[in-house]
Amino acid sequence: MDGRDLVRSVSVVGSRKAAQGLRTVRAAWRRRRIDAAGLPARGVERARVPGPVQEAVPGPGGGVIRFSRSELRITVAVNGAVFWGWDGAGPEPSYALAGRCPEPDPRAVLEPDTDGGWRVVAERVKISVSRHGAVEVCTPGGVMLRRDLPPRWWEPVDGGPARWVQRSEVAADARFFGLGGRASGPRLRDGTYRLWNTDPGRAFGPGDDPLYVTMPVQLVVADAAAHLVFHDTSWDGSVTLREGAEGAGSGHDRTGRCEVRMEGGPLRCWVMAGTPARVLHTWASLTGAPALPPAWALGHHHARWGFGGEQEVRRIVGGYQERGLPLDAVHLDIDHFDAHQVFTVDQENFPKLPTLAEELRRDGIRLVSIVDPAVKAAPGNAVYDSGTGVDAFVRDPSGRLVEGVVWPGEAVYPDFTHARVRKWWGGLYEERLAQGFAGFWHDMNEPTSFTAFGESTLPRASRHAMEGRGGDHREAHNVYALCMARAAYEGLRELAPAERPFLFSRSGWAGVQRYGGTWSGDVATGWPGLRASLSLVLGLGLCGVPYSGPDVGGFDGSPSPELFLRWFQLGAYLPLFRTHASMRAGRREPWEFGSEVLEHARVALLERRRLLPYFVTLAHLARRTGAPYVRPLWWGAPEDRALRDCEDAFLLGDGLLVAPVLDPGADRRAVQLPRGRWYDTQTERVYEGPGQVLVDAPLSRIPVFARAGAVLPVRDEDGGVGLEVWAPARGRTGGGLFVPDAGDGWDEPEVERFVARWEGRRVVVRREGDDGVSAPPYPVRVRGLG
Ligand code: NOJ
Repeated sequence: MDGRDLVRSVSVVGSRKAAQGLRTVRAAWRRRRIDAAGLPARGVERARVPGPVQEAVPGPGGGVIRFSRSELRITVAVNGAVFWGWDGAGPEPSYALAGRCPEPDPRAVLEPDTDGGWRVVAERVKISVSRHGAVEVCTPGGVMLRRDLPPRWWEPVDGGPARWVQRSEVAADARFFGLGGRASGPRLRDGTYRLWNTDPGRAFGPGDDPLYVTMPVQLVVADAAAHLVFHDTSWDGSVTLREGAEGAGSGHDRTGRCEVRMEGGPLRCWVMAGTPARVLHTWASLTGAPALPPAWALGHHHARWGFGGEQEVRRIVGGYQERGLPLDAVHLDIDHFDAHQVFTVDQENFPKLPTLAEELRRDGIRLVSIVDPAVKAAPGNAVYDSGTGVDAFVRDPSGRLVEGVVWPGEAVYPDFTHARVRKWWGGLYEERLAQGFAGFWHDMNEPTSFTAFGESTLPRASRHAMEGRGGDHREAHNVYALCMARAAYEGLRELAPAERPFLFSRSGWAGVQRYGGTWSGDVATGWPGLRASLSLVLGLGLCGVPYSGPDVGGFDGSPSPELFLRWFQLGAYLPLFRTHASMRAGRREPWEFGSEVLEHARVALLERRRLLPYFVTLAHLARRTGAPYVRPLWWGAPEDRALRDCEDAFLLGDGLLVAPVLDPGADRRAVQLPRGRWYDTQTERVYEGPGQVLVDAPLSRIPVFARAGAVLPVRDEDGGVGLEVWAPARGRTGGGLFVPDAGDGWDEPEVERFVARWEGRRVVVRREGDDGVSAPPYPVRVRGLG
């Protein structure tokens, strides 16, 4: 390139940028105009509370309690979850529920309570409703888990959706988790958390809120029990939390507080209580079993925005292969599209994509494609034309198409809340399958429209079908990505019925796990970003979305070799293990950080591959039980206060405890261990929990502990399955599960159960099946014998 070329290309890029800038200004004005014309101004409002109780009408699983200015419907469902809805709100329709609402539990009966109130006694909770509409959830033994004060609505005098607020109290010792993917968690400290899926527009850190996946799902952990509460309303809202405090000495306890505010939508919620495992199981039975990723998706993925062409993809893959580094998937970002238009290919730089995909597949590497929802608004663009043919795109109240601005420039947005549109969109993946893609990465689906000012999304007045009910973007926004995931999932099931779809999405809502996972978006490169990555994965897992992971190394900038390595070491134990970065960021290949980092990254990659059977097992268990692979340390011991406050380590399934290094320069770290015996998997040194221990964390590894007695399915050196058994404490037994890889199809392999016990001076492992106890059909290696 000579000087003139350089000047020319700089000015082309410059003028492109200026044009895009202008577009974003126009889009922002358009959004304002549409909202000003399409949304009624909030005029005078009247406040309302339920008023005194009038009567109660028992019904299946509960009944209806009438107050002078509202009514409350309570139903205990057969899965143990309790639903209640004000102003006659029922559980359906709901975007969160997987199918129909579960049947009412006929054993739950509405009966008079003291003081003019009413109560319903269920198997795991007791619900009491006061005569002014306070709703209290207690354990069967009568300990309060949550107390909702009577709600309050503000209704526009001239009609329109009412805003509402629901204030609640929880136990003084309770801790809050969840609310989707939050960067500052996993423990949600005092503050206000917004419920509006948002692209922050730049790489984010722990101070940024909200992000791409918000959900009105709180998991509250207290001594008495854990409970999950889900306010089933997709409107814009916020949750303000204030942890309680226990009175020291003679002081009084201060209860924890929670205030949910919504700009509209029904005031209805689901509550489920018990152990964390029980709660997540009930939640999954309500909102759907997590989709099972194929085994290759549990390996290592390499992505980058800006590979630029097939040659570079081959170079990177070659780099992994030459160095003997496992690689299972390569992700192509928007730069492989033709002019950034989704469902197209840049033929100049990717002329033989199906051939490339086939070659990679032969080497055990899958290609994954990014898919953005926005479609370039240009007649002649095939996706635009076919979408127009089925009236697929979102319109404003005057009937005009709503245009936003994304990568391809001016773009229109499919209305995924319409079954016809989902069907059309799902069919478009045929082109992707023909290109050889095996998985899909949904992006920009909050949905995002770049904007010069104001909110980076569609106008709130934009119309949506809402499955025929009709509504606007105020209600549709938060479920947009969920419905897009459904469209893709259902489309792929039709197009390739023999294969389980693999997709993960930047945005989502309660129930998105039915279709796939998520990833943590554009996390900022830096130590705070590393910490935020773990917070997101843990928080999402507690909201029922077990498969997620960050951009290892961070999205922007250039991580130091140490930061990259520590991120890589953490990523190796998270469900989605993917390096990815912006086109403007530094390199992310493990060999780009010097030979020392390369060797340690190799160890992490090989360990991930060795643990693949364990990851596959965790994926199956997540599907069958709702339990996330990555769990907070308090998962099995929610009553352990010290564990509730511990945010820098996690359990990987039942067997392992991972303590990543999250601070620069650290070569030792403190680890809070749950009760029981734990082995440092590297040194086999024994530690007894509960309590805090200080362990080595050299650059070569992060501390990983195995629970005494754990039986872990691992990959042997010859590629077969073996059992790694960590000796139980003397006089104790242990065990573990193994679910064989189901391939890419729909087979449901049996869960294999193993028990480990001491027999004399040996630890012996047996398989327990319906047909009795037998020797395991896998090689066994006992560790931790000292
Ligand atoms: C935003 C996504 O978060 C990022 O991962 C991706 O690389 C860019 N969009 C470009 O597609």
